[in-house]
Amino acid sequence: MSSEIIDVVVKTREDQATDVAVFELGRVDGESLPAFEAGAHIDVHVTPEIVRQYSLSNAPGAGNTYRLGILKDPQSRGGSEAIHAIFKEGTELQISAPRNHFPLDDTAERSILVGGGIGITPMITMAYALKAAGKPFELHYCCRTRSSAGFIDELCSEFSDYLQLHFDDLGDEQRFNPETTFQPCDAGTHIYVCGPTGFMDWVINSAKEQGYPSDHVHFEYFNAEVDTSGAAFEVVAAQSGQSVMVEEGQSITEALATIGIKVDVSCEQGVCGTCICDVLEGTPDHKDHFLTEEEREDNDQIVVCCSRAKSDKLVLDI
Ligand code: FES
Repeated sequence: MSSEIIDVVVKTREDQATDVAVFELGRVDGESLPAFEAGAHIDVHVTPEIVRQYSLSNAPGAGNTYRLGILKDPQSRGGSEAIHAIFKEGTELQISAPRNHFPLDDTAERSILVGGGIGITPMITMAYALKAAGKPFELHYCCRTRSSAGFIDELCSEFSDYLQLHFDDLGDEQRFNPETTFQPCDAGTHIYVCGPTGFMDWVINSAKEQGYPSDHVHFEYFNAEVDTSGAAFEVVAAQSGQSVMVEEGQSITEALATIGIKVDVSCEQGVCGTCICDVLEGTPDHKDHFLTEEEREDNDQIVVCCSRAKSDKLVLDI
């Protein structure tokens, strides 16, 4: 994971749709920003206490600008509300270099991109990349209403041959239907989805029910409920030998903090991967939305901001 911090300035702010603001960021020193690939995101240092991850939404590659589309989320833990309140043209802030946990699969013969609400942002970078590469794809954009749909003018003009719009307040015939969209299921098709948690669960489960293997269904959650219920267990920090009990209602990171062991966290919801630790002994009870199914089965990593243990003890490489 890159720890590079980049000083940027808000070059433009456009309030595009209901509670969606689009920001273009450029380096304060005017130099080029690091290149990025479709699906990449950056950390945004909103305030000294708040760091949030947002997908980039402009055409991938090298350039002078990163573009973000940010929904003022009523469920916000403070990040998106602060951004909407603070960030305006000329605001200086810090970001990370781009990271990509949601890349396109180069082997796909056909791609189905599904964006729910503001989850459209990584799909836009993917659509630009696939169009530039001349690869077949469909872009599905699901929103409550047309007025809540950010980027819609750009999508209609850039991707008119690929785009299908689905609005909750219009007729059934235009609603998104995974059963029809994902057929026929064939070995060359890959599905990508981003959006609200319930929407993503529905799309992912539908794809799997229709026979898509898990490595053909790609997703990136941007928030999730954290469930800290379950029996207490012991965590041993192998590097110092210290141990602590993780009680019900407490996360591993919170328990470790009580004995002076600090783990870097960001989302604290199991979606960004910042807090992953190696497991040396014991069996994790994975509750994150970051690790792949294969990584979960290996049981040698754990997302410590949200996951728990199936065994009485976990020994972590921290
Ligand atoms: S801090 Fe984001 S996954 Fe744990």
